[in-house]
Amino acid sequence: MTIFVENFKYMKKIFTVIAAALVAFTAAADEGMWLLPLLQKMNKKDLREAGCKLSPDEIYSINHSSLKDAIIQFGGGCTGEIISDEGLIVTNHHCGYSNIQTLSTPEHNYLMDGYFALTRDKEIPCPGLSVTFLREMTDITDILAREADNAAREAKVKELVKSARDANPLCEVITEDFYNDNVKYLIVYKVYKDVRFVGAPPASVGKYGGETDNWMWPRHTGDFSMFRVYASPDNEPAEYSEENIPMRPLRHLKISLKGVKENDYSMILGYPGRTQRFQTAAQLEQMVKENRVRIDVRTVRQDLMWDAMCSDPDVQLMYASKYASSANGWKKWQGEELAFKKLDIIGREKAKEAAFMDWVNQDPARVETYGGALEKIEGAVEGASEPTLALTLLTEAPFRIELVSAVSRYGNAINSVLRGNPDAGQDEFVNAAKSLEGFYRDYVEDLDRKEAVALLSYYRDKADKSMYLDSLGVGFEDFASMDIQAYVDYLFDGSAFSSSEKLGAALEAEDYKERIMKDPANILYNAIIAKAMILYPALYKTQTPLAEGSKAFAAGLLDWEKGKASYPDANFTMRLTYGHVLPYSPKDAVYYQYFTTLEGVMEKEDPTNPEFIVPAKLKELYEARDYGHYADSKDGKIHTCFLTNNDITGGNSGSPVLNAKGELIGLAFDGNWESMSSDVMFEPDLQRCICVDIRYVLFLVEKLGGASNIIAELDFAK
Ligand code: ARG
Repeated sequence: MTIFVENFKYMKKIFTVIAAALVAFTAAADEGMWLLPLLQKMNKKDLREAGCKLSPDEIYSINHSSLKDAIIQFGGGCTGEIISDEGLIVTNHHCGYSNIQTLSTPEHNYLMDGYFALTRDKEIPCPGLSVTFLREMTDITDILAREADNAAREAKVKELVKSARDANPLCEVITEDFYNDNVKYLIVYKVYKDVRFVGAPPASVGKYGGETDNWMWPRHTGDFSMFRVYASPDNEPAEYSEENIPMRPLRHLKISLKGVKENDYSMILGYPGRTQRFQTAAQLEQMVKENRVRIDVRTVRQDLMWDAMCSDPDVQLMYASKYASSANGWKKWQGEELAFKKLDIIGREKAKEAAFMDWVNQDPARVETYGGALEKIEGAVEGASEPTLALTLLTEAPFRIELVSAVSRYGNAINSVLRGNPDAGQDEFVNAAKSLEGFYRDYVEDLDRKEAVALLSYYRDKADKSMYLDSLGVGFEDFASMDIQAYVDYLFDGSAFSSSEKLGAALEAEDYKERIMKDPANILYNAIIAKAMILYPALYKTQTPLAEGSKAFAAGLLDWEKGKASYPDANFTMRLTYGHVLPYSPKDAVYYQYFTTLEGVMEKEDPTNPEFIVPAKLKELYEARDYGHYADSKDGKIHTCFLTNNDITGGNSGSPVLNAKGELIGLAFDGNWESMSSDVMFEPDLQRCICVDIRYVLFLVEKLGGASNIIAELDFAK
């Protein structure tokens, strides 16, 4: 939801500043997640100087096909690219992970064993997975600035969205805010919903190094998977159907097998998720505190999951995706905390704010517009701090009991039924339980019982008494003194939500509503929500000052740096980042080469550690040097991964790494440990983007996967 600031003088003034700031010119390569429609104005010269052989218009155009037409948002949170004229997609293995897991069973374990469809009919539909193409994005800030007030602006937005919808049938139209709500774009997307799994290496290759190597260099992960987008016979988006055919895209990427050298130009188009580069020191300090809460609780839960996964391969498959996504954030925040200290991120942010305030204080007009911004933000952060920490603990501890998520999902399903049909009867209630099929598929009650004991004990230990859960059942009225193990037994023994059979039976009973209402898991869920609700008034009070302060601060920064090209924080819209292939030095006396090889995969092998198993077939290929066209022309080795200084974040995973001509040379898949503060500040000497070499990807497709059908479909640059 957008919060417009009801202050005209301010709006007008800010608008003039933004308009001036955004036509400025001196961009420098490396740092920046650039907005595509502004490349022409901001980056044209710099792109050329950095070595790019394409014009901004060849990267992004709304008049003819351009590079951006080959890039997709994959699912909700990753990037992918189209690499054939029949809609073949490549993205990261960790992006396809949960879909591949969902398709896997102990008998057909595509996740652990790998899979390649050797014919089209072996491509497997992935219900719920969609991919999104960007059609165009248009800055509507100035149109809105002409409107008289908040209500008029909202009406104008509706009108603009409606006319874009009318002009683009079969498309989705949204608006998105940039620069802390100082700029608004209208964005047109085309979403395709029939996406099928084509292939992936075994997890031992696609996730080689596991959590140990995650966020680290040197890296040897074959982090890719392949899908295909299908369309109706007239090439339009359609739900899954046997009639559908491989989509014919406006553009697909050509592939370069030449490899990379140090200092080569490289660029990435993709969908970076969230950064905090326009946040203040006060906000960053708060962020570190919240993340510490998350790290500590997740340690407790992940340890239990890990033990269960290690002792049972079925549990390992069921919990693979849940575990990986929890652990990914958990490790990221730890790295961020360390990097904040080591690189003095907060100190440097404070120094920047002091310099900014010096500049503001030189001019009464600036004081009037930006003078109060930092204080406003600080006040809001202070007001929200305690309740936010309490909410974080609540959502990371009791709310993570899986039985509670089952209730929450079922509640959502029922609410959506009731919205469409307020008189819904028993059949609809029974039917809504289908929304939990995926949940039960990957659910181990025994493990959840252990998690529940651990999470509730942890919560009791850490939470303020005012946040203790109320009346969880007869005999469990007092959270402070109750026997948690006894409560968890009571909870799971008595709840219908602990299995789909029990839930089905409860919903078939005559008193089904009563049973659901009185279900101990529902009571626990409601007790958690009730505690969240007591925090909301305090949080709500800080929203407007925070939004106003943040907006003025970002506008002030743009004004201060007028003449310097700027890019907004990442917000899941498509961006370009460009720079070069580079090594780095992580610490005194240590130098990291910019690429790794298959030799390193063999070096890291450890048959006793599930994260470092090398499949026998890969070893055979290595022993025989059976590398096809994919070995490096200079050293004859398979290059596995390489580094660039491109500026990326989560959401960019799977993004194409392109050479100066826009040909695919790799896939971005990670950032490096020494610059984990990168969402907040870019570190030119330390920050690297970790990419898997496209030659390693294709070597694995052809030699390990035996899928020469896929290779035959590709378009190689001469
Ligand atoms: N760190 C990567 C990212 O956030 C995800 C890597 C997934 N792999 C894993 N071992 N959890 O994009």
